[in-house]
Amino acid sequence: MIVKSAEFICSNTQISKLPPPVKPEYAFIGRSNVGKSSLINMLTGKKGLAKTSQTPGKTQLINHFLINDNWYIVDLPGYGYARISKSKKEDWNKFIRTYLDKRESLQCVMVLIDSRLEPQKIDLEFCNWLGEKGLPFALVFTKADKQSSIKTDQNIAKFKKALLATFDEVPSYFVTSAELHTGRDEVLGFIAEINQN
Ligand code: GTP
Ligand code: MG
Repeated sequence: MIVKSAEFICSNTQISKLPPPVKPEYAFIGRSNVGKSSLINMLTGKKGLAKTSQTPGKTQLINHFLINDNWYIVDLPGYGYARISKSKKEDWNKFIRTYLDKRESLQCVMVLIDSRLEPQKIDLEFCNWLGEKGLPFALVFTKADKQSSIKTDQNIAKFKKALLATFDEVPSYFVTSAELHTGRDEVLGFIAEINQN
């Protein structure tokens, strides 16, 4: 897929104020600092489109970006950020989970996983929740430039194995690096295919 245009539409804390659910939508989610915003900028080819930061917790709103005037990328706040209060965490959980569960135009949840890490409980729990809700998701292993491809493959194999404890099959998955632009065609191709159906 060629990204001809990518435009910031709105940031929201209220589900009632999201754009009308009339265009296909792909939500990017994962632990705080996993590289969601960086991946969105890499996919769209627009460096400053989604705000990135070395400090976890940068993205705090539901951000809609319109691609080629006909589908949305949604940048979500990260989960598992230790330095926020318990009540804020619960608010986040409720807000994001309501959005994911109720959004009619949501086609697929792109769950970002840090490729450097062994399977993390919080990521597996989140995937299991998506499974329980029957929400389609794909895995995106980020920051692959940070270690050898052998290490990345080992962590992916462990994650797949852990998922198979609760799922019958492993969902589609991608290996990416926002730094090296790895995985761009694969992720965009995956989205293009869903949009066509
Ligand atoms: P929150 O919005 O805070 O949840 O974070 P996020 O998941 O949007 O992460 P963000 O894109 O802001 O990136 C976090 C940090 O990781 C930044 O310092 C990025 O430069 C760095 N980063 C993201 N992706 C990559 C990557 O593929 N390779 C490398 N080397 N660094 C990356
Ligand atoms: Mg972000």
